Amino acid sequence: MRIYDIIAKKRDGFELSKEEIEYFVNGFTDGEIPDYQISSLLMAIYFSGMNDTETLNLTMAMANSGDILDLSAISGVKVDKHSTGGVGDKTSLVIAPMVAALGVPVAKMSGRGLGHTGGTIDKLESIPGFSTILSKEQFIENVNTIRLALVGQTANLAPADKKLYALRDVTATVDNMSLIASSIMSKKLASGADAIVLDVKTGSGAFMRNEDDALLLAREMVNIGNGAGRNTIAVVTNMEEPLGNAVGNALEVKEVIDTLKGNGPKDLLSVSLVLGSYMLLLAGRTDSVESAMDMLLKTIEDGSALRKFREFIEAQGGKGEVIDNTELLPKAKIVMKVTAVQNGFVKAIDARQVGRASLALGGGRETKESVIDPAVGIVLHKKVGDSILKEEVLATIYANDTEQLKQADELLQQAFELSEKPVEQQQLIKWVVSKSGVEKV
Ligand code: URA
Repeated sequence: MRIYDIIAKKRDGFELSKEEIEYFVNGFTDGEIPDYQISSLLMAIYFSGMNDTETLNLTMAMANSGDILDLSAISGVKVDKHSTGGVGDKTSLVIAPMVAALGVPVAKMSGRGLGHTGGTIDKLESIPGFSTILSKEQFIENVNTIRLALVGQTANLAPADKKLYALRDVTATVDNMSLIASSIMSKKLASGADAIVLDVKTGSGAFMRNEDDALLLAREMVNIGNGAGRNTIAVVTNMEEPLGNAVGNALEVKEVIDTLKGNGPKDLLSVSLVLGSYMLLLAGRTDSVESAMDMLLKTIEDGSALRKFREFIEAQGGKGEVIDNTELLPKAKIVMKVTAVQNGFVKAIDARQVGRASLALGGGRETKESVIDPAVGIVLHKKVGDSILKEEVLATIYANDTEQLKQADELLQQAFELSEKPVEQQQLIKWVVSKSGVEKV
């Protein structure tokens, strides 16, 4: 086999065989095929596309390029949940203890934030003492004993994807559905779960801004997951405005604790309940979304989800007292209120701009190497559809630096759009995609 022939075949629009895909993925990962030939192949894929079989074969080749986590020592159906990334998206931290409190094992690997979007690992690391690095044995033991463990991705998880993504990033070949779907799913398949619930975000703060593209991505990923023998469902959800009120690591952990105490924002709870319900469905714990929601809500009402969250924090070295006293979380030195300049209604809160404001405060990462400040961020006091009076507080900024505060303030002012006329609230759940088809919600 020659890489030259594979490039020419794809350039001319033909389907690549499983062997050809494995050849280029393995050859590139091992350093035997140079960047310039893979760059050319990526551009050929970008223009000629890949069909479902090729996309699945690419995903499997990337997943198999490194460690495959073996979760067979954990009893029960292991269901993973993955979000394509958003602003204020802390659903994993709300869902995981609820689902685990019901006895369903949650053995999860999560990522860090990049750019305007946040990451679960960064949020957890804002809890004093919390470690997101566990040995494989400890990880499995924690899931077997308390049904919940959450760690960062290991260095050798789908290394082919790491190399290919870095090349796509500098060759203008990121934006191809097959390449995006296979990249995300290779890491999920290597993480070892039996079933997967995907939260595909759409809107200004999402990777897929356009709803049609989000739906297409959801279908591709569901095809891959089911093709790989993992029961997979995707829910397409709104990311025009941030989810919940808090954006910023420690602020989001506080909001998770409030939500598990039954005092969280409605939108965050609603999306968490829907995603958590599909996890229970895939785990075989119930056969309807309605009964799953009742089961999950009960874990908040009876305090079992909150107890599970404390247990989880302590099992990973964190200070469980943060549950009773959120003042123990990192706190910013400067607190500033942003007020409305007119009476009216909130028409839009651009999630990307809010994410950028948090990034400007140091709450996010400009590059993979950036160090983040866990204490800073933004709390929104008004959401789309709310009425507002002149001088009423729209948001609070938490900062540790006056220059960063100034930048965040400017970005936040641009994020809010007010209207004189009443505005409808945004629809949170848009589509559910499963192997039986696409359902409009
Ligand atoms: N996230 C990924 O992991 N891969 C992509 O290609 C795009 C987003």
